[in-house]
Amino acid sequence: MEQIPVGIIMNGITGRMGTRQHLARSIAAIRDSGGIDLGDGRVIVPDPILVGRNESKLRALADEYHVERWTTDLDRALENEADTVFFDSTSTDQRVGNVSKAIAAGKAIYCEKPTATDLAGALELARLATDAGVKNGVVQDKLFLPGMVKLKRLIDGGFFGELLSFRLNFGYWVFEGDWQPINRPSWNYRAEDGGGVVLDMYPHWRYLLDNIIGPVKSVLCHHETHIPQRWDERGEPYRATGEDAAYGMFSFDNGVLAQFTTSWATRPYRDEIGEWQLDGTLGSAIVGLRDCRVQSRANTPMPVWNPDVPNPIDFRAGWSQVPDNTEFPNAFRVEWEMFLRHVVADEPFRWTLLEGAKGVQLAELALQSSAERRWVDIPELTLPTP
Ligand SMILES: NC(=O)c1ccc[n+]([C@@H]2O[C@H](COP(=O)([O-])OP(=O)(O)OC[C@H]3O[C@@H](n4cnc5c(N)ncnc54)[C@H](O)[C@@H]3O)[C@@H](O)[C@H]2O)c1
Repeated sequence: MEQIPVGIIMNGITGRMGTRQHLARSIAAIRDSGGIDLGDGRVIVPDPILVGRNESKLRALADEYHVERWTTDLDRALENEADTVFFDSTSTDQRVGNVSKAIAAGKAIYCEKPTATDLAGALELARLATDAGVKNGVVQDKLFLPGMVKLKRLIDGGFFGELLSFRLNFGYWVFEGDWQPINRPSWNYRAEDGGGVVLDMYPHWRYLLDNIIGPVKSVLCHHETHIPQRWDERGEPYRATGEDAAYGMFSFDNGVLAQFTTSWATRPYRDEIGEWQLDGTLGSAIVGLRDCRVQSRANTPMPVWNPDVPNPIDFRAGWSQVPDNTEFPNAFRVEWEMFLRHVVADEPFRWTLLEGAKGVQLAELALQSSAERRWVDIPELTLPTP
């Protein structure tokens, strides 16, 4: 087997997503399992260099994941022509600066969402990458979750009949930081640092809506900052300027209505932190990150409103699990493998910086909708001419 090493500059790798999803579960996992077999006698072997600001954190990560190369000097790392891919998972407000530099250095780009804090920045990156002719991609991991893969399979198999509505209940309690440690970074709650639940989560909802239901055409959103004061990583109090809950509706040309609640100030009473329900004329599905349950037209019970007697129907018993029928690797790893195949073997890859910009567009228009208290249409996104 011919080994094709791919040098990957991994920037922001000491962060939550960088370490857990991109290094541990994706790049180190791919390398440790022998690489990506291209099926033509070649195998892609990722060769990462870890980049961050804190030497001791980098050294510890490099030791733990058996990575030989790390540096605190991003500019020097970008000079190495043998490292052909640049990956960025720094906090959102750093993205445009980092990714533009890497495009200028001729690297293939792969990065976390959102690709910028506003649409102008996101489009600028897409434009720069296109002009430079570098391959590019954005993390759209939720598409590759087992629950979503099963849901898409049901849609493709005609299970639902005519699609009617799509609902999401997503979120969990993010601790304020005063009496228990915080479970998300504090910048997530400061608008001035690129925080806020809309900019964080609506980029995910954009690619899910577009790919599961069809192109989303209009958004109505109301957001709130339910918890106005929080405490940061050092225990210092700060004002939460970023919203922590968003109540959104989305419409499509095919008549489906989607209604998504996204909240960091809620306590789930459900099987998973996010639960979607898709209703169609012939059946419905309840989808979590992993599970997918269905109820078809034929076994839909007929409830009667009668609060005077205990409810006689076990509603949950009328649903059945959709079988896996396959193995589901980590969703981030799935997309990394597709991107690296795209870089090395020119295989198609749809989730470019322009697709990533659509996510930022939805977030920006949802914020506008909330500010103006009205539905906002979503124009088709094209690259600005230089
Ligand atoms: N795909 C997903 O499901 C998902 C989930 C959570 C977060 N994210 C995105 O991933 C990105 C990182 O989020 P996170 O939760 O890992 O945040 P984090 O705060 O844990 O990590 C951010 C990283 O950026 C680095 N950084 C911050 N400011 C910097 C600066 N000025 N110079 C250099 N490095 C700097 C930090 O050192 C850290 O390594 C964000 O853009 C976020 O929106 C994606």
